[in-house]
Amino acid sequence: MDRLVVLGERQLSGSVEIGGAKNAVLPVIAATVLAPGRYRIKRVPDLRDTRTMMKLLSIIGAESTYENGEMEIDTANCRNPEAPYELVKTMRASFYVLGPLLSRFGHARVSLPGGCAWGPRPVDFHVSAMESLGAEISLDGGYVVAKAKRLKGNTISFDVPSVGATGNAVMAAVRAEGETVIKNAAREPEIVCLCEFLNKMGASISGMGTSKLSIEGVKELRSVDFEVIPDRIEAATMLIAGALAGKEITVIRVNPEHLGVVLDMLREAGNSVTVSGDSVTIKRENFTNPVSVRTAVYPGFPTDVQAQWMVLMTQADGTSAITDTIYHDRFTHVGELVRLGAKISLSGNTAKVTGRRKLLGAPVMSTDIRGSASLILAALVAKGRTEISRVYHIDRGYEGIEKKLKNLGAEIWREAE
Ligand code: UD1
Repeated sequence: MDRLVVLGERQLSGSVEIGGAKNAVLPVIAATVLAPGRYRIKRVPDLRDTRTMMKLLSIIGAESTYENGEMEIDTANCRNPEAPYELVKTMRASFYVLGPLLSRFGHARVSLPGGCAWGPRPVDFHVSAMESLGAEISLDGGYVVAKAKRLKGNTISFDVPSVGATGNAVMAAVRAEGETVIKNAAREPEIVCLCEFLNKMGASISGMGTSKLSIEGVKELRSVDFEVIPDRIEAATMLIAGALAGKEITVIRVNPEHLGVVLDMLREAGNSVTVSGDSVTIKRENFTNPVSVRTAVYPGFPTDVQAQWMVLMTQADGTSAITDTIYHDRFTHVGELVRLGAKISLSGNTAKVTGRRKLLGAPVMSTDIRGSASLILAALVAKGRTEISRVYHIDRGYEGIEKKLKNLGAEIWREAE
């Protein structure tokens, strides 16, 4: 296992290119199973999770190669509609193959993901969406077994908008008989990206980016080439690095529209933020206003940026409250940030952060993808040496983060534990 070592208090400046979005590319890769053929997916980030998705495809029977950010996938010989526990337990997004497998083969066996570091994270919406489309579902040895001779369009109404369940339902519906309407659908850019990919394949989806998706089932889909959208969470993480330790940082090849609320909050915190085409520049002031946030579904403040924002608030001149309304227990980073000297108290799903605190380097442990990113951010402003162990979490969601930060002037390197 590797660890990251950071010597803090270096000033960052320069520009950093943002990669393709992890949460967009994973469902897109899963969707290639829908129609046999050769696909070329561009701007695929080199992540543990994209590699896990390739492994899953190979179990299903697809062949894939990955080079220089491009993934070629051939799904002609898929024969095995199964996602095994060994993979699904390491990456929940593996559950995305349920819809495509059911659509193509009429049956699927996909392991239940189980819990994760911050709570139970159920998949009941995914399962009930498949049932609405006519699938028979049973549970066998920890696996969801789904069967349907021919999926039939229907109205699916989610209690709360779920990114994963919306994606899975759309993928199951694109070749179903008749029309499917998804109410209270997720509006996240990653779901829009998936729908655009599916429409390029020949699907007929409308209402993307709104909470009502309409899908007219089509008989056939074809393989295509596609480029995924930039990663708004990586961009937000780098911008927060700029707000913490930057002189002036520019994130390039991003879609600033996807970053709306994060840019607003960074401005409210006192930073100068300018947008120019597909890049965003942040200039740090020598003060940080405390800015409380509540996570919400898109276009609200992303739960995937909550941990990083908390670090920024440790350096604010005052007290702020960070409430996670999506995942009430997503606070495993709090204990580690406290080890670095942060003053944070938790009450229910709200963290009260008291700034400004001088952080001091210490050994800390990654617990999940975004929590790990928050530890790196904290290490950038902490005095002295911080060692972050279990970096495989960060490798799941950030491509070469230490190289990118090093190019900006951070003193950070990777070493074997
Ligand atoms: C996706 C993202 C993750 C992000 C999350 C919320 C991917 C691969 N992951 O996860 O990074 O943090 O969206 O933006 O894209 N829920 C249920 N039953 C279900 C499904 C969800 O109760 O069947 C609940 C969840 O517990 C949660 C809420 O719905 O409270 C939203 O979760 P969801 O949008 O489904 O998250 P994921 O798709 O798993």
